[in-house]
Amino acid sequence: MQITLKDKTFRKLISYRQIEAAVLKMSVRLNREYKGKYPVFICVLNGAFLFASDLVRCLTFNCDITFVKLSSYEGTKSTGKVKALIGLDEIIKNREVIILEDIVDTGITVESLYKQLRIFEPSKIKIATLLFKPAAYSKKIKIDYFAFKVPDKFLVGYGLDYDGMGRNFKDIYILKD
Ligand code: IMP
Ligand code: MG
Repeated sequence: MQITLKDKTFRKLISYRQIEAAVLKMSVRLNREYKGKYPVFICVLNGAFLFASDLVRCLTFNCDITFVKLSSYEGTKSTGKVKALIGLDEIIKNREVIILEDIVDTGITVESLYKQLRIFEPSKIKIATLLFKPAAYSKKIKIDYFAFKVPDKFLVGYGLDYDGMGRNFKDIYILKD
């Protein structure tokens, strides 16, 4: 199965069934590790909205869920800079924080958010991402939870977009060479 968005063609890489199973597996770990705790999840918009909504519905401990909006992509290339940050008004001082990302690519976004969150003095910050591109990752911060390691290619679907398109697809697609 393939799809075309604007000028680019993508082929299916990960089905929603696989996503569901991997998200459930991650939730089992989180349910064990955060049992009896009350952490704050910070969902990075827009990309992580589907991952966050599927994941948090599998969680059995109490938690807060809040959202920040970040963006470092133009088309299929990282600009290297993180633009626009709103909504960091949740009180995270002395709380355990878990960042929810759709994909960690170069790590610029997650590192920048991590540093900004540290200013609010949380007791701990962990990172949970649906997708992780180890070949592109250039930062030192540990990626604590990831559902899939993916190749260093552009992906769309299940929240991930190509210039705003493709977020609504249930499955994840990879750019064809
Ligand atoms: P990073 O800062 O390079 O790690 O990129 C992280 C952000 O860029 C992610 O939260 C995504 O929103 C976006 N991004 C990175 N790789 C892709 C991709 O393959 N498809 C769509 N968006 C991506
Ligand atoms: Mg993102």
